[in-house]
Amino acid sequence: MKHIMAPSILAADYRILGEQLRVLDEAGAEWVHIDVMDGMFVPNIAVGVPIISSIRKGSDRFFDVHLMIEDPIRYIDVFADAGADGITFHVEAAPDPGAVIAAIRAEGKKAGISLKPGTELASVLPYLDQVDLVLVMTVEPGFGGQAFREDMLDKIRELRRSCREKGLDTDIEVDGGITLGNLGAVLDAGANVIVAGSSMFRGDIGKNVKDFTAEAGKHPVGGT
Ligand code: DX5
Ligand code: ZN
Repeated sequence: MKHIMAPSILAADYRILGEQLRVLDEAGAEWVHIDVMDGMFVPNIAVGVPIISSIRKGSDRFFDVHLMIEDPIRYIDVFADAGADGITFHVEAAPDPGAVIAAIRAEGKKAGISLKPGTELASVLPYLDQVDLVLVMTVEPGFGGQAFREDMLDKIRELRRSCREKGLDTDIEVDGGITLGNLGAVLDAGANVIVAGSSMFRGDIGKNVKDFTAEAGKHPVGGT
């Protein structure tokens, strides 16, 4: 397990997406977080298959695809083929989460499960030993630029404790409202994969990645 920066391209300038990805890459961001929204599971529509397969041609980085779609099992093979390295789906959107995890694994991809702020941690715990990653939403999914939910820190802490108890070094990813100001708190709570949209793409993108990475370096991996 290690700290991983995953800038979310939801906040990118799509006119110059390729150029912005190159800057992120050069600054050392290891993952690219890609938000897929269907207008059903969340009240917004974002990033589909053509964009992913297009940017795949220009990047070797880990493509972290966050599916905010109803009944995600229908599209696992499609996003795997488009170039995803990891696929994360929402437990609330899947009638049979275990089957979705199996479908992601069958494609040879890393499997992640996510939960909204209002969803009990207990809903993902039965799948902990089957996934590579748990994505704790720290805002209501659907839009960038929202304020971080302070009350999710306890959920992250409890999740890291559950992983430790089971001897698992599962990646814990946080997504929503992450800034340089609250980065330390989520890392200390036990998160190690950091998604950031607006705070990464505002101003000097390369400097933002470096600032985030430097701040992360002050905190122990896996929390305090
Ligand atoms: C929201 C998305 C996030 C979004 C985060 O539903 O899952 O990945 O891009 O944006 P910020 O960092 O601006 O909150
Ligand atoms: Zn996301």
